[in-house]
Amino acid sequence: MVALTLASPAQTRRFAHVLASLLRPPALMTIEGDLGTGKTTLVRAIMRARGVRGAVTSPSFTLAQSYRGRQGEALHHLDLYRLSRGADVDLFAWDDYLGADAVTFVEWPAAGREALPAADVRLELLHRTPRSRRARLHASAAFEEAAAEAAAAQGIQVGEPFAGEPALAAPRGAP
Ligand SMILES: Nc1ncnc2c1ncn2[C@@H]1O[C@H](COP(=O)(O)OP(=O)(O)O)[C@@H](O)[C@H]1O
Ligand SMILES: [Mg+2]
Repeated sequence: MVALTLASPAQTRRFAHVLASLLRPPALMTIEGDLGTGKTTLVRAIMRARGVRGAVTSPSFTLAQSYRGRQGEALHHLDLYRLSRGADVDLFAWDDYLGADAVTFVEWPAAGREALPAADVRLELLHRTPRSRRARLHASAAFEEAAAEAAAAQGIQVGEPFAGEPALAAPRGAP
């Protein structure tokens, strides 16, 4: 696990560029965190970094939006907040959004837990102050190491909070 402090929306976007350059298809990345923690901000910036032009809208009502990156790769952005367990999960065309040439991003992954494969990269975002967020990245050792190094080079604080900073509550859905 790598802990980071995203001190502003601009830092979140910079971290998105780091992730965008490390992710290779096929990959599944889930983003967990309460409303307003920056999940859509992050995914939108990843899409931009991978060369998506035009509007990148939040899929909170459409459940899914698909794009093409500059290498022709499929980029899928899912938001399962409004997906109800049961019938919705069974009817959803999961396979359309998971392919050998695809990088798939899922906000609110809990509703799809039974249908989705294990994520390659898992990011938890937590509120810290109105402008800053805490992030916890879970991925392979090589990915975590590369992400931490690139994030630090971008001026992002990597590591646990300073002593004295109050401990954060566990995010919803954490074991
Ligand atoms: N450090 C930060 N990182 C990301 N967003 C931030 C940050 N600080 C403030 N914000 C604001 O929080 C909001 C996040 O919205 P959004 O990305 O839609 O969140 P979510 O998809 O998690 O509900 C935006 O209005 C953004 O400007
Ligand atoms: Mg969102």
